[in-house]
Order: sequence, then structure tokens, then C-alpha cells
Amino acid sequence: MNDEIREGDYVLLYLDDKRTYMVRAESGKVLHTHKGFVRVDDLIGKEFGAHVKSNLGAEFIAFKPSIRDYILKSSRGTQIIYPKDIALIILFGNIQPGSHVVEAGTGTGALTTALATYVKPSGRVYSYEVRREFLEIARRNLERAGVLEYVELKNKDITLGIDESNVDSVVLDMATPWLIVPHAHRALKGSGTFISFSPTIDQVMKTVEELKINNFANVETIECLIRKIRVEKGKTRPETLMTGHTGYIVFARKASSRTL
Ligand SMILES: C[S@@+](CC[C@H](N)C(=O)[O-])C[C@H]1O[C@@H](n2cnc3c(N)ncnc32)[C@H](O)[C@@H]1O
Repeated sequence: MNDEIREGDYVLLYLDDKRTYMVRAESGKVLHTHKGFVRVDDLIGKEFGAHVKSNLGAEFIAFKPSIRDYILKSSRGTQIIYPKDIALIILFGNIQPGSHVVEAGTGTGALTTALATYVKPSGRVYSYEVRREFLEIARRNLERAGVLEYVELKNKDITLGIDESNVDSVVLDMATPWLIVPHAHRALKGSGTFISFSPTIDQVMKTVEELKINNFANVETIECLIRKIRVEKGKTRPETLMTGHTGYIVFARKASSRTL
């Protein structure tokens, strides 16, 4: 059965690959664009995927927002981790339904949104953030994506320790991840995953050094570069411009303390 748009649902109005608008289907609401206006309440009762026209005749498609849309359309308080890196964090980090994941810092909550989507319904994300104002932004973004109930937002400095124990993963996007490595070892289950996203190589080097002396193994560092391909008859080729750098991702797994 197809999904019907109900009052209160978020909808991604797609004009083309560069012009999309996230709107909430509410009665009386009108979206103004340079291609005319769209009566948002006309969407209520239509199927996701339906075509709608502006008063000037421009055609939009009413898509159901994906996790990627919620992340890219989030209200930003900080730099975010982009979907290409999040995709790798989820799979290489073994984040699954039911996983208990500690995260720091929450920031805008872009990564938190994805983590919560994958751990639900029985898993949890415990997300640490030192700046209260970012937690408020993240709370709104998580609520909009419908995953707030799977997240515990904590106004705490993670360098002082991790409250949780026996967790499946610790995921970091903060300036000093190497300081968290001993706390992560205590908080993780045996074989649990440590994941750290850092923009600079010196952060990576300090983190990997600390992982090696704290009984982590299978330490792997990667960088993900995505090259889009423009597909058009007779001129299919890579796009001229691409994102050159976002960050490096370090993965490791907890081994128990040596018993030699
Ligand atoms: C780049 S942002 C995280 C963005 C987030 N991953 C996202 O995708 O939206 C880094 C965040 O870490 C927070 N932070 C830095 N040090 C911290 C600490 N010791 N404990 C908790 N949060 C910390 C900062 O306040 C900032 O909000």
C-alpha cells in the first residue's frame, strides 16, 4: 500500500536536483518559491511521490524525506558529518537495530539522526555535548526526523568519563578524540567498536597511538571521496567539481586487557 501524506508529515518538495524544499503539511500553509507558490495543504491526502503544481505551473514531486534529506536540511549549529561519511560509520562501525551507542559531541545532531534511525526500536544513542545551545538545535532536528525517543541527550563533557557501560559502540566527532580512548575501552563490550571522525591527520595520529596502547585492535583509518557521474547521452563523464576533503574516519575494536 502506498503511503498517504497526513497533516503534520514532513514532505520534500522536489523541483530538480538543486532545488528542494522541506515543508510540513499543515492546513493553510503556502510555500513561496521563485517558481510561484504551492498550497501545502493541497498535499494532505495525496500519496508520497505525487506531482503537484505551483500557481505558475512549475511541477514539484512530493517525496517522503529520506534520512539523508533530514540530515542535509537540518538547522545547523555546527559543522556536520556528511551522508557519505555517515554511511561508512554505520556499516564499518557495525551499528545495528538494538545497538547501544555512545556519541560525542552531539553538535547539530546530523550523525545522531542517522545513529538513532539504525539502532531503533530497541537500541539507544547516548549523546554527549558540552554546549547546551547545540543540544537544543539537535533536539529540534531529531524531533523533526521522528527519532528523538531513541536518543538520550546529555549536557556533559565526555573527557570526564562515560556514564554507560557494556555499550556496543563509541562514536566521536570532537576536537580531542584521543582523550576519550581509555573511557571508551571501559564503556565498551568486548569486541565493541570505536569510531572517530577527524578533519586533520594529527588528530588521527594521536588517536591511533592511544588506541594501540589501550588494547584496541583491528585499527583502520579511511577517507571517503565521492565522485559524481553526469549521465547524458553521448557526454557521460565525471562532474568537474567534487568535495576534496571532509575528514578521516578511524575504526577499532575492543580487545580485552592482555593476560600474558
Ligand atoms: C563538529 S561538532 C559535531 C557535529 C555532529 N557530529 C553532527 O553531525 O551534527 C563537534 C561538537 O563536539 C562538541 N564537543 C567538543 N568537545 C566536547 C566534549 N569534551 N564533550 C562533549 N562534547 C564536546 C562541540 O561543542 C561541538 O558541538
